[in-house]
Amino acid sequence: MRIIKARDYEDVSRKAANIIFSVMTEKPDCVLGLATGSSPVGIYKELVRHYQEGDLDFSQVTTVNLDEYRGLDRENPQSYAYYMRENLFSHVNVRPEKTFLPDGREEDSRKACEEYDHILSQAGQQDIQLLGIGHDGHIGFNEPADHFPKGTHCVDLAESTIEANARFFESRDQVPTQAYTMGIQSIMSAKCILMVANGKGKAQILKQAFQGPVTPQVPASILQLHPQVILVADEEALSEMENC
Ligand code: GLP
Repeated sequence: MRIIKARDYEDVSRKAANIIFSVMTEKPDCVLGLATGSSPVGIYKELVRHYQEGDLDFSQVTTVNLDEYRGLDRENPQSYAYYMRENLFSHVNVRPEKTFLPDGREEDSRKACEEYDHILSQAGQQDIQLLGIGHDGHIGFNEPADHFPKGTHCVDLAESTIEANARFFESRDQVPTQAYTMGIQSIMSAKCILMVANGKGKAQILKQAFQGPVTPQVPASILQLHPQVILVADEEALSEMENC
């Protein structure tokens, strides 16, 4: 695992965007595994800037996102489909038919998950998978559990996750209680994993995830077993890690 120390949020965003930049430059038809939340917003801004300056081309890229709230239509401003359009897709030349997320409108969770697993297998291995980390160690929406789920599944969101994500909604009651998420095996099958984290609030969980035991109670800890993980984090987020 490689740790890249950054000064602040902007620095994390630039350094992480540069890594994605080089993957896209080396392989124009790459598969990008993408994430939502506040951590990647600055990275997407940087990628849009590179595109606008003529240095990046998304025309052959395929994107697969980690997760989507169950029950939210893609036109709902709180949906991750909407977030991706707002933050990245509508500003670059990616082909909309090559951008994929689980279908939050599909009420039949089994069908939604099977369909997304099919999409993932058609898309092929992610050349790079971007990840944030939840305060309880969740990646995508893989919440602490008694096992590491393999494929796409429907999760009941943890109270702490609902609480943390309530800031994006008008009130806590509006936060969906379930989501469809890519499974741990699908995340682990990426060629390279790029995790980003900022701020003191992530310090404790980063230490647990990368310097604690590998356990499904801290889903991100599985990343210790991946051969190519890059963590880009600011000083505050790395403050609890030993030897950093
Ligand atoms: C959500 C997303 C995760 C993300 C996490 C942390 O729960 N499903 O993919 O990593 O939030 O978000 P933030 O970057 O806003 O701290």
